[in-house]
Amino acid sequence: MESSQQALQLYQEHFGQGAKVFFSPGRINLLGEHVDYNGGFVLPAAINKGIWFAIAPNNSNTANFVAADVNESFSVQLDHIRKQDGWQNYVLGVLHILQKKRYIIGGFNCVFGGNVPQGAGLSSSAALEAGLAYALNNLFSLGLNSEQMALIAQEAEHSFPGTKCGIMDMFASLHGKEGHCMLLDCNSLQYEHLPLELNEYELVLINSKVHHSLNDGQYNKCFQEAMEGLSFFQTLNNHITSFRAISTDVVNQFKDNLSPEVYDRCIYIAQEIERTKQAAVCLKENDLIEFGKLMYQTHKGLSELYKVSCSELDYLVTEAKMKYDVIGSRMMGGGFGGCTINLVSKQNREEVIGDIVSSYQRVFDIQPEVYIVETSNGTHEIV
Ligand code: GLA
Repeated sequence: MESSQQALQLYQEHFGQGAKVFFSPGRINLLGEHVDYNGGFVLPAAINKGIWFAIAPNNSNTANFVAADVNESFSVQLDHIRKQDGWQNYVLGVLHILQKKRYIIGGFNCVFGGNVPQGAGLSSSAALEAGLAYALNNLFSLGLNSEQMALIAQEAEHSFPGTKCGIMDMFASLHGKEGHCMLLDCNSLQYEHLPLELNEYELVLINSKVHHSLNDGQYNKCFQEAMEGLSFFQTLNNHITSFRAISTDVVNQFKDNLSPEVYDRCIYIAQEIERTKQAAVCLKENDLIEFGKLMYQTHKGLSELYKVSCSELDYLVTEAKMKYDVIGSRMMGGGFGGCTINLVSKQNREEVIGDIVSSYQRVFDIQPEVYIVETSNGTHEIV
């Protein structure tokens, strides 16, 4: 689906008149990867690809969904919300958490669909969860603020799809601001919008087309091993509540007490928290060259220490690094596939990205997709 009109039209075909339309964006992340669930800082931005919802109450006890992109319909009695398989869990999770928190929602009809490529690390699932929470808040006057909606969407993801994700994706989707990224403190949820001034550069995503899915267990393994590391440091000092309090020096001091896997996770997290603070300073000072260097460092850490990259993503970054016109590149999001994010000179973008794409295609026999990033406002009603 490509527009709010399409959502509305499909709604009319299925349910008639009277729907409101909402847009919920996907996100990119400039820096701060795999640190949102470790108490770090992240630098995401909402993008102009997302999910549209056409939705209205139906004065019944039933929620009717039409998932336009997969051409599937699904109905559920509101007093019978149970975990299922597939995309249904993303919407059911939101209903489940709202009910668990005693918010009263009535029946409704909803058509949704969008243009966030799935499995590309652009948070299509968070856009769906955050967008549904936002729309229901509006329809049934639940009185939730954006932070509460983000937390509900995160809990929804933890509950039915079962991925122990951090807060970044849903928070970015709900709090985006066109022309800006945000520096989000994932401990306090304090955030600051930073103007995204890229001068002669632009952000380009290359989708490796290696499909990544967060609920296949690999992401939760990262989470568990990080928590194992954290628990060790908590036995040394019970005031520690997250990795924010653990410097790289401290991790190195206790290297021999940790298994090699857990040490690698911990040192990456401590470095990345530090790096994201530096990256925010670079953005504020408009030092994009330095910012780009940090992107390469993050990729190295994600690949060699946190071990969430794959050969296709590593190849894309290695190729990018050889180009004078690419000043920064790294895998983005949960990993194991999805996109790289590249900071590329506007002037030579077509040639440079074209080169990377064709050599990738030659080596892996996969045709990658390229998206030029445009930022957008957070989840909103389209009037
Ligand atoms: C996924 C998760 C986020 C975050 C990133 C990695 O997108 O949903 O919470 O952990 O991976 O930074």
